[in-house]
Amino acid sequence: MSHEIIEKNIGLMAVLILVVISVGGLVQIVPLMFKATIVDPAPGVEVYSPLELAGRDVYVREGCYGCHSQQIRPFRSETERYGHYSVAGEFVYDRPFQWGSKRTGPDLARVGGKYSDDWHYLHMVDPRAVVPDSNMPAYPWLEQRMVNPEKLQRHMRALQRLGDPYTDEMIAAAADELVGKTELDAVVAYLQGLGQDWTGQDERAVAAGASR
Ligand code: HEC
Repeated sequence: MSHEIIEKNIGLMAVLILVVISVGGLVQIVPLMFKATIVDPAPGVEVYSPLELAGRDVYVREGCYGCHSQQIRPFRSETERYGHYSVAGEFVYDRPFQWGSKRTGPDLARVGGKYSDDWHYLHMVDPRAVVPDSNMPAYPWLEQRMVNPEKLQRHMRALQRLGDPYTDEMIAAAADELVGKTELDAVVAYLQGLGQDWTGQDERAVAAGASR
């Protein structure tokens, strides 16, 4: 019986197991590479502006990810608190994505526009000044450190090569946009942009009965 032959031949069984797992994996993964809702940006979602991108670099460097997720799950308890759940097309320009799973602080996927710029400036330099019970660390050095325009232009060029729609003009103009900007300016610009682009969320939130 062929079943017996396979059971008694561990080498053959290993090969056949590999084949079965590979086919199963490909069947799951390959269609995702072509699915528009995952590969294409959601309506309204744009590449980060140079200042936002610089702020994103600071966010990654400082490890904000260690306490903040950027992914709202499709549960009522989440959508009531944070707004519409996240969709894949919101993250196509996130390299690397900052989804995370650790929430010492709140999710930040839709924090843009929730507070004034002034609030964020105060909060980043001294969280306790605006939220007395906060255990978030202070980041006072962001106020002193300047954004490096050349480094940011190199970053934009790398993203352009990966297919992000930055034009050569946008990259050339970035240097002027970043002159005199601190890392704090950049982080606040980044935070204020989070969750603001996708135009689908309002209609869909109303349809789903969510509060935002
Ligand atoms: C040790 C954990 C920790 C780290 C690291 C951390 N945070 Fe926080 N964050 C918190 C906590 C806790 C709160 C809630 C209290 C408050 O608002 O300060 C918070 C609140 C926030 C809020 C307000 C969110 C809201 O909806 O009210 C923003 C914005 C924020 N953090 C940004 C950042 C950024 C940017 C970084 C990285 C530079 C960062 N955090 C790093 C713990 C952290």
